[in-house]
Amino acid sequence: MNEARHIRNLALAGFMGTGKSSVGRFVAAQLCFRFVDTDHLIEQRASKTISEIFDHDGEPAFRALEGEVVQELAQREKTVISTGGGLIVNPANLASLKEHALVVCLCAPAETIYERVRYASHRPLLRETEPLETIRRLLVQREPFYREADVLVSTDQRSVREVATHILHEFHSALRVPHDGQGSHPCPRP
Ligand code: S3P
Repeated sequence: MNEARHIRNLALAGFMGTGKSSVGRFVAAQLCFRFVDTDHLIEQRASKTISEIFDHDGEPAFRALEGEVVQELAQREKTVISTGGGLIVNPANLASLKEHALVVCLCAPAETIYERVRYASHRPLLRETEPLETIRRLLVQREPFYREADVLVSTDQRSVREVATHILHEFHSALRVPHDGQGSHPCPRP
């Protein structure tokens, strides 16, 4: 692992519907870390929903906001960061996250993702007549970027608790690797 990294946060990446929010909240509670979601930070900043940003300003404007929010996350500590499904497709975003966070990418097959997201209407990229086809196409495009995360974890047929346990193990292992001489427990209890 890169010597210059100072891991103090945990970032969850991966496609829509892979469980980043539910797993992230659970892991944050276990670590007594804060939980933030990049989409939520973007909505606050823009005072618009993600769908409104896509509709009014276009996807490039949304991606620019993602880039701004990612840079600011470098100031955080003891935070679980759930990232939008396309965020680490930009290598600069992934590089920035890796400076301060262990980046865990959650994965699931297209069919599982489809079952999880099919009744939700807030994802502009899936407002298509053939959302399963869109999911398959985007997964193929994005897979090489997702593979650049530190750790890949399947969420298929696994409970939130099971996935969280796996991630907590990986996070504690990463902290035990000396980074700038620091490898302490992330949340020492009194
Ligand atoms: C997107 C995923 C969404 C949101 C936006 C774009 C993507 O986040 O950032 O709709 O490009 O995959 P979730 O992965 O949290 O649904």
